Amino acid sequence: MNILVTGGAGYIGSHTVILLLQAGYRVIVYDNFCNASKESISRVKKIAGKEIITVEGDIRDKVQLRRLFSSHKIDAVIHFAGLKAVGESVEEPLRYYDNNVCGTVALCEVMAEHQCKSIIFSSSATVYGDPHTTPITEDFPTSATNPYGRSKLFIEEILRDLYVSDNTWKIVLLRYFNPVGAHPSGLIGEDPNGIPNNLMPFITQTAVGQRSCLSVFGDDYDTPDGTGVRDYIHVMDLANGHVKALVKLPEFNKVMTINLGTGTGYSVLDMVKAFEKASGREVPYCIAPRRAGDIAQCYADPGYAKEILGWEAGKGIDEMCADSWRWQEKNPNGYRK
Ligand code: NAD
Ligand code: UD1
Repeated sequence: MNILVTGGAGYIGSHTVILLLQAGYRVIVYDNFCNASKESISRVKKIAGKEIITVEGDIRDKVQLRRLFSSHKIDAVIHFAGLKAVGESVEEPLRYYDNNVCGTVALCEVMAEHQCKSIIFSSSATVYGDPHTTPITEDFPTSATNPYGRSKLFIEEILRDLYVSDNTWKIVLLRYFNPVGAHPSGLIGEDPNGIPNNLMPFITQTAVGQRSCLSVFGDDYDTPDGTGVRDYIHVMDLANGHVKALVKLPEFNKVMTINLGTGTGYSVLDMVKAFEKASGREVPYCIAPRRAGDIAQCYADPGYAKEILGWEAGKGIDEMCADSWRWQEKNPNGYRK
């Protein structure tokens, strides 16, 4: 089977491509490299020992997508391509809506033209807004506080409308919690541009000496130690969830909305301690004010993923930290030489 992976050079995409190749799928990566390096593709090939067709292109470019679908028979699409920085989305909402929403519409139009109607979409736990309680099940109310989150909600709704109009589509919306970690080889991992927004890359860059100190955003939340609690999930577990979803896709008779999380919440300070243990490095930190838009705690009820996909996360916090550290230590400048 030929799988088109949009955004396949990025963090989650590159890890998923390895598992797809190992499961025997042929993979075509389609990426405009706006937030990725071609080096990630070379390393994925090295890890998997298999070839990948890579096409540099934008999901909004229907001419190029048509050329791609005409020259390859594509059986399903795993759609990671998108912009993901919350703060940037507040500054540049139109760019986010154009890239994420218009890009997905263009992609689906070309898929339909070529009778390719199977898609797995990268949604996010951000669609739960500030949940009234935890753990979070898929039927919780949704909301968004920024354009990034709203783009995910819009795309979910667009894909549901698409299914209503033509129920031969097979659609899975995967709502990821907080992906961390890296491939155990240390060859690929998360490589953010500039100062990281997310906790784990900030911790690893502090441990390697690129940042002097981690700011812990708030220690007065209603959580066991006062710092924010999240459901961190190893990126290899997350990648595996996509392979499981792909296998089950033909059986689905409705749009499937599925949480991918571990079901366990860890605080910022839990993560710092676990990372220090895994790396043997100290992570200096100071308590800073709360970050606007942050919530106290967020973790999944992963029961539906287990029931429907037969999937559950297997890697714990120590492995997440050890693998994040291996990647950072071997590649202090990410994919840059
Ligand atoms: P990433 O930025 O590493 O990967 C996204 C990839 O898409 C990049 O390689 C980028 O170059 C590409 N891309 C962006 N716009 C494109 C376009 N118009 N055309 C072609 N390629 C384009 O991000 P990631 O962490 O791997 O996230 C993958 C997906 O998962 C995104 O849709 C993101 O919103 C979603 N998601 C991520 C997280 C997270 O914490 N990493 C959490 C929830 C959901
Ligand atoms: C953030 C985004 C969310 C997105 C997700 C994955 C916001 C408000 N939310 O989620 O929309 O889906 O990333 O990309 O940006 N923290 C610190 N110091 C830091 C960084 C983070 O204390 O330098 C804390 C945060 O306050 C939070 C936890 O660490 O409690 C996790 O933060 P982060 O990794 O940014 O993820 P989320 O905020 O959950």
